[in-house]
Amino acid sequence: MSSMLITEAGEGLFHARLNRPEAHNALNTALLQALSEAFARADDDPSIRVILISGTGEHFAAGADINEIADKTEAEGADDVRKTYWRQLQSVRKPVIAAVEGYCLGGGCELALSADLCVAADDASFGQPEIRLGLIPGAGGLQRLADRLGKARAMRLALLGERISGATAYDWGLVSHRADRGEAVTTARSLAEKLVKAAPLAVEASKAAVLKATEDRLNDGLDWERRAFERLLSSQDKIEGITAFREKRRPTFTGQ
Ligand code: HXC
Repeated sequence: MSSMLITEAGEGLFHARLNRPEAHNALNTALLQALSEAFARADDDPSIRVILISGTGEHFAAGADINEIADKTEAEGADDVRKTYWRQLQSVRKPVIAAVEGYCLGGGCELALSADLCVAADDASFGQPEIRLGLIPGAGGLQRLADRLGKARAMRLALLGERISGATAYDWGLVSHRADRGEAVTTARSLAEKLVKAAPLAVEASKAAVLKATEDRLNDGLDWERRAFERLLSSQDKIEGITAFREKRRPTFTGQ
């Protein structure tokens, strides 16, 4: 098991913790692979009833690893094994709970939005800031934001790259639960304890039923969003956006 991902299992709960605190737990390919494999194992393990995901350190995750995206082209994006990992993560049958403290941005936000329950610390920071890099999310972030928030609020996050606090995310219905700062994992664990005691077949069927009413109708949009993300990988604006991020300056975009 990679030390980028710390896992523990017991009493029906599988807990995975993203562990790249030096990069605000940015999801590089090795971490995404470890996470998707861990989720798949937990999903197939009859002793596990619930999966919990959180970050180590102060943050959940600040997105995909920008250093990996920097040189990636459209063709490489189309072939990217990361798509398989995302698909695996997002097709777990057992309930997944995300416990979010600190930054929950980009791919980190997409991961949290893919969970079935999400506990956000009041001062956590949610957003899809990809537009500032000349990109869009590619793992369904905009589909799920629009689905949960409606057009007006989704546009604020999508077009302006606005970040919202955990408290606002709760008020807007983006996440299912709120917690005081530092208490997200404790709150998530108490929810997990309830789910561990619930009827497993009914839990699995309930999850699938809700997803039929929500996720299933997003399928066209999910594919479209991924393709648009891939096309943008080869743009000059992406190169400028990521260069500016690294140089800690404002980007100048040209639409090419
Ligand atoms: C790689 C990252 C990173 C990221 C932060 N770091 N986010 N490295 N990928 N996504 C690194 C920084 O480079 C820095 O490394 C260290 O973590 C601490 O970050 P700072 O910027 O110094 O911290 P701070 O000033 O507190 O700002 C925090 C922040 C900022 C607001 C979260 O780091 C930020 O804006 N990060 C990028 C967020 C983002 O754009 N996410 C979307 C990524 S694209 P050094 O070595 O300098 O100390 C994406 C697409 C998904 O997610 C597509 C899915 C298919």
